[in-house]
Amino acid sequence: MEAIILAGGYGTRLRPLTYTRAKSLLPIMNQPMVSYLMRMLPSEVSKVILAVNYRKDQIEEYFKQQTFGKEIIVNDEPKPLGTGGAVKFAEKHISGPFFVLNADIICSLDISKMIKYHKKKKAAATISLWPVERVSEFGVVDIKQNGNVISFVEKPKPEDAPSNLINAGAYYLQPEVLDYIATGRLVSMEKEIFPQIISDTGRFYGYQLSGYWIDVGRIQSYIDVHKLLLTEKNTDFIMGKHTMNRGIATTSCLGNHVTIHSGVHLSECVVLDHSIIDKNSSCTHCVIGENVQIGEDVLLRNVVVGDAEDIAAETKLENSIVWNQSIPEDYPKKQIGNVIGE
Ligand code: GDD
Ligand code: MG
Repeated sequence: MEAIILAGGYGTRLRPLTYTRAKSLLPIMNQPMVSYLMRMLPSEVSKVILAVNYRKDQIEEYFKQQTFGKEIIVNDEPKPLGTGGAVKFAEKHISGPFFVLNADIICSLDISKMIKYHKKKKAAATISLWPVERVSEFGVVDIKQNGNVISFVEKPKPEDAPSNLINAGAYYLQPEVLDYIATGRLVSMEKEIFPQIISDTGRFYGYQLSGYWIDVGRIQSYIDVHKLLLTEKNTDFIMGKHTMNRGIATTSCLGNHVTIHSGVHLSECVVLDHSIIDKNSSCTHCVIGENVQIGEDVLLRNVVVGDAEDIAAETKLENSIVWNQSIPEDYPKKQIGNVIGE
């Protein structure tokens, strides 16, 4: 069985971290985001198609070193085709019912159980569901007691949301779904295809997952996922290899080859590989990119520092993004896919 991982987005809501890397390779607890999905796939999935475009070289490189025991196909779209278009573009690799995963979710979904549920319901499409409060940032379903989804609305206004159950970004689909997707153009699975399948087949089902689920598409949720996984691991702090910590770090994750000097305080921070934080600096609720140098007596709160940036001694910053380098050519100014409020 095949699984498609949708990993072609620009990750605009995670900039500047995504100016320099594919979103799906952003480390979470020092492991690339996509590795969590790879480990979640059951043994019946033998082939994984990575639907990519932006920064595809990095993804190709990563999967040359790691295959997770699966056949890996890096399927490069000539231009972003959207969540539906990317699935259609993978059609040539699909041999039967298949799985689709958004690359930016971290969750405890039991895929085998979801497939069993799909078969029992004789569904055309089954999507995983998760309850949230802020429904407007997601796809929301109207669902019957028996799991039959009767409507799907992408990013509705709160007052228009049919329930608090959202699309958790993992689907099991019959090949007939591919016939609904046009070839070679931008197609949104959520806005165009799901509503059509619901109205045409009536065989669209929702499977509510248990445990935990988090969408890692935003800086806030990127920090939250670390908090969640630290709690899962029953620890308040982790650090990678060859890292030296002479400061105090709480609810934080330090990457590999990081140096934290004495008197430094870190709280709710993620510090990526090869960064240095000098004496007596303090960071709260921050993400510090790779190869960053932070001078002495710096105070940062709610700040994201892009890769290879330097922060001069005694700088004080709040609620900001630090990026002084050029923005990659063709990087969109705003989210292009399933934008809120369109
Ligand atoms: N190959 C490819 N091509 N992948 C894409 C493209 C594209 O053109 N556009 C987006 N993707 C990938 C993204 O990288 C991401 O992994 C996934 O498709 C979903 O796109 P996002 O841009 O992250 O969408 P979202 O977070 O706003 O909303 C989606 O996820 C929510 C759950 O996290 C929707 O599926 C919602 O319905 C859902 O609730
Ligand atoms: Mg997302």
